[in-house]
Amino acid sequence: MSQLFSPASNTLARATLAGLILSPVLIFLIGATVARSGFVTGQGRFVDQVVPFSHKHHAGELGIDCRYCHTGVETQADAVVPPTHTCMTCHSQLYTDADMLAPVRESLVSGKPLVWNRVNRLPDYVYFDHHAHVNNGVPCAACHGDVKRMPLMRQAAPLSMGWCVACHKDPEDRIVSPAREFEGAPYVDRTASDRAFARQTMAAIAHHGRHLTDCSTCHR
Ligand code: HEC
Ligand code: HEC
Ligand code: HEC
Ligand code: HEC
Ligand code: HEC
Repeated sequence: MSQLFSPASNTLARATLAGLILSPVLIFLIGATVARSGFVTGQGRFVDQVVPFSHKHHAGELGIDCRYCHTGVETQADAVVPPTHTCMTCHSQLYTDADMLAPVRESLVSGKPLVWNRVNRLPDYVYFDHHAHVNNGVPCAACHGDVKRMPLMRQAAPLSMGWCVACHKDPEDRIVSPAREFEGAPYVDRTASDRAFARQTMAAIAHHGRHLTDCSTCHR
């Protein structure tokens, strides 16, 4: 073993250990970093699915509209994960023998819905509403990242209270025009119409006396 480590790396290891044991400040800093890291919030997390569905392929390359599958985004709180028959409108003709799609075909025959494991999840005591955001210029990408480039879905944002409130305090720069809501990266080139729609939305929020940072907005 001794040949594997040079004397210098031994000294370094001892110094690091001593630092760890002796320094409550360091330990606090490490603790604070872990508390804010993706390990705790789930940010960046992938989830196993029975079918490896690719958004990059379907929403990106094939260009299928988010709303074709997530039918709730403009009308209700729940975005909706599509049922089997949505997949089968294409896959009864395309890729009909693919092993990857076997669970989809079985679900159609048995009538048992496919089980998709949740990627983004808030605690039950938090109220969230998709259409309140999507109809007011907050694009999917603000919270879900550049989905059109994701082969597998991952949790793009921390979904913590601090993260929600940071936008609610001053959302103007995060609002885009309705035409750009479903783009993968709408913030990259903010247009004049994005800014105009953002100003209009901010004026409407003020006019209706909405206080987006009130506790009762998200806890009701
Ligand atoms: C062909 C259907 C289809 C299209 C089009 C589609 N999705 Fe999805 N989406 C799914 C399926 C199936 C799942 C569940 C599997 C998964 O999480 O990958 C899903 C999951 C998601 C999730 C994660 C849900 C959770 O569990 O938290 C997000 C976010 C999402 N889609 C956003 C989008 C966005 C944004 C677009 C448009 C750019 C889009 N999707 C287009 C089918 C689709
Ligand atoms: C509008 C048509 C359409 C719909 C709806 C659709 N797909 Fe596809 N899917 C395709 C096409 C086209 C391909 C093959 C693309 C290629 O290889 O060029 C494909 C390929 C696949 C593949 C093979 C791997 C890959 O990504 O290439 C899987 C798995 C898959 N789809 C799952 C699903 C699931 C699950 C749903 C429902 C949530 C769904 N698809 C809905 C058109 C569709
Ligand atoms: C302001 C942030 C935000 C925006 C904008 C947003 N989402 Fe979500 N999305 C979330 C959160 C938070 C959850 C988890 C909700 C929960 O657990 O109650 C979620 C969950 C989902 C789910 C899982 C099903 C559900 O409703 O819980 C899908 C699918 C989804 N989003 C798709 C989309 C699509 C597509 C768009 C754009 C049209 C979009 N989201 C816009 C924050 C957002
Ligand atoms: C990128 C900015 C952004 C993020 C992130 C965001 N929101 Fe919002 N949210 C808004 C805007 C803008 C509105 C106001 C829409 C309007 O009323 O015109 C809003 C409205 C809402 C409303 C509806 C208020 C009402 O009175 O109808 C709820 C509930 C809400 N947000 C909850 C959340 C929660 C919970 C999170 C975190 C999981 C979150 N939001 C994250 C921008 C954001
Ligand atoms: C814009 C949405 C939003 C607003 C406004 C908001 N919260 Fe929260 N709150 C959340 C979310 C999201 C969580 C869940 C955080 C998590 O799971 O990490 C949460 C969690 C909490 C928790 C659980 C403990 C914790 O910190 O994780 C408490 C307590 C709480 N909020 C109190 C409040 C109070 C008091 C106010 C008003 C001053 C408030 N919240 C305003 C979104 C909000």
